[in-house]
Amino acid sequence: MEVSAVSRAHPDLAPLTISPADFEAPPPPDAKIRMGSPEHRRLLSRMLLDTHDPYRPALIHWPKLAPETRDRIVSLPIWDIAVATEGRASMNVKTFNEQIDDPLLHEAIAMNAYEEQRHKVVLADMVAAYGIELAREPDYKRPRDPEFAFLRTGYSECIDSFFGFGLFKLAKDTGFFPDELVDTFEPVMREEGRHILFFVNWVAWWRRTMPWWRRPLFEAKVLLVWLFLIGERISIARGMGEDNTKAQENNFTLNGSKELGVEVTFPQLARICLAENDRRLAPYDERLKRPKFVPAMIRLALRFAGGKATAS
Ligand SMILES: [Fe+2]
Ligand SMILES: [Fe+2]
Repeated sequence: MEVSAVSRAHPDLAPLTISPADFEAPPPPDAKIRMGSPEHRRLLSRMLLDTHDPYRPALIHWPKLAPETRDRIVSLPIWDIAVATEGRASMNVKTFNEQIDDPLLHEAIAMNAYEEQRHKVVLADMVAAYGIELAREPDYKRPRDPEFAFLRTGYSECIDSFFGFGLFKLAKDTGFFPDELVDTFEPVMREEGRHILFFVNWVAWWRRTMPWWRRPLFEAKVLLVWLFLIGERISIARGMGEDNTKAQENNFTLNGSKELGVEVTFPQLARICLAENDRRLAPYDERLKRPKFVPAMIRLALRFAGGKATAS
């Protein structure tokens, strides 16, 4: 897809203008790409920029849903956390971008932040259209350590998108989400796939190009982010069953299939998530590294659960 100069009129979304002429060209399709090379940087940045979908959230026509469908969607305990997560992601990515001097990477990360903001606008519009009541939105504070915040957002998207892809497929196949909503959220799902692909490639590139003295602190932050994310999910699991709205909301990734009213076993859900993850990442340049950690953990868990990792 060619990137065109785009501007949008949504009141909550400042216009974004891209000048394709300013971009460095992507490497030729038959060029071999070494991780951490200038070609790798061009490939990962251009992947995000060239696959941008310039849809206009202000123009989404929210379909009138049957009362029963609307009630089902309104009662999903995810909307507060979803809006807040997108808002925080946008702030984290935008703040991190302030320290990126490389013009091409800067442009790509600005696109990432813009898309997060657009996710929030889409969600907020949907919430308003269907009369979903939200808790007061938190203030999105500038992170004190922008790199840590960017890593937190990136790795948590690697976890949440993996499960989100599978749950979205389930919601679509079971008819829980009517076709109109599937169509509306499909671009959001596609964008999260591009974001995690960009993120893991940026990490791989930065690891190989950063000055040696930055490396120990960077790896310490990566480790801390993973401990934080794992701890967060353990505390979510502990919150299960408690009368705690926040825990219920955070729990949706873990407990999502139940909320969708579908009886699905862990191996079934795991296989759907693995297959969807592969399918969603398949269209992009195969020379880019794929997110591996979460799928590998799930394959391992499947082995313990006695299932096969292939989709049936
Ligand atoms: Fe997002
Ligand atoms: Fe994202």
